[in-house]
Amino acid sequence: MPLNIAIDGPSGAGKSTLAKKLASKLGILYLDTGAMYRGIAYFVLEKGIDPAFADSVVPLLKDINMGIEYDSASGVQQIIINGENVTPYIREHRISFAASTVSKIPEVRIKLVELQRIIASENDCVLDGRDIGSYVLPDANVKIYLDAAPAVRAKRRYDELSEKSMLNGMSFEEILADVNKRDYQDMHRDFAPLVVAKNAVVLDTSAMTADEVMQKVLEICDKCK
Ligand code: DC
Repeated sequence: MPLNIAIDGPSGAGKSTLAKKLASKLGILYLDTGAMYRGIAYFVLEKGIDPAFADSVVPLLKDINMGIEYDSASGVQQIIINGENVTPYIREHRISFAASTVSKIPEVRIKLVELQRIIASENDCVLDGRDIGSYVLPDANVKIYLDAAPAVRAKRRYDELSEKSMLNGMSFEEILADVNKRDYQDMHRDFAPLVVAKNAVVLDTSAMTADEVMQKVLEICDKCK
């Protein structure tokens, strides 16, 4: 059985930083499942469709052939849709909320979860997302729920967008409002919402550095062996 480590939590809790470093330290795959929802959101927006209209989104799904590849030089995950690498476009701020909105649609989740489960059954991997420990892989070897105060998470998001020159004039307050709105939507959808999975270890990273989080999670992984 492959080793599966599930890392869930709201946006900005530090999931991807941790998951990336942990996977690299353990020499296993990192699957960023949020990027998969972002890929669908990008495709839907490019077609001029409102991601909130399930009746328009669902028929599109059969036209989406998603592949996950890893850049041979950097090892960074790439999302390929119908042969096109959409990775450069999925980090824009407009995609974040659209991804949360399409992710409410059960048919979208079922399609992506199927691919996530195949990858997890064939590889030792760290997966980060919202429903990994609770729905995608309820029997994962290790389950972590990363959390942090909303203002801390919004500041991290603000700094990240600012570093990449992707703020487009947005203020910290606007980012905070968006973070809260997205969390609410992710936690209150009907199908596989963001919850603390059974047996998950909850870590509040508000006052922790990335290195401290990593150290703590390595200890948790050790105990789970
Ligand atoms: O982790 P992220 O910010 O890249 O995720 C974008 C959105 O995708 C998030 O707001 C909700 C959705 N998502 C999800 O519903 N389930 C996952 N396993 C991962 C992401």
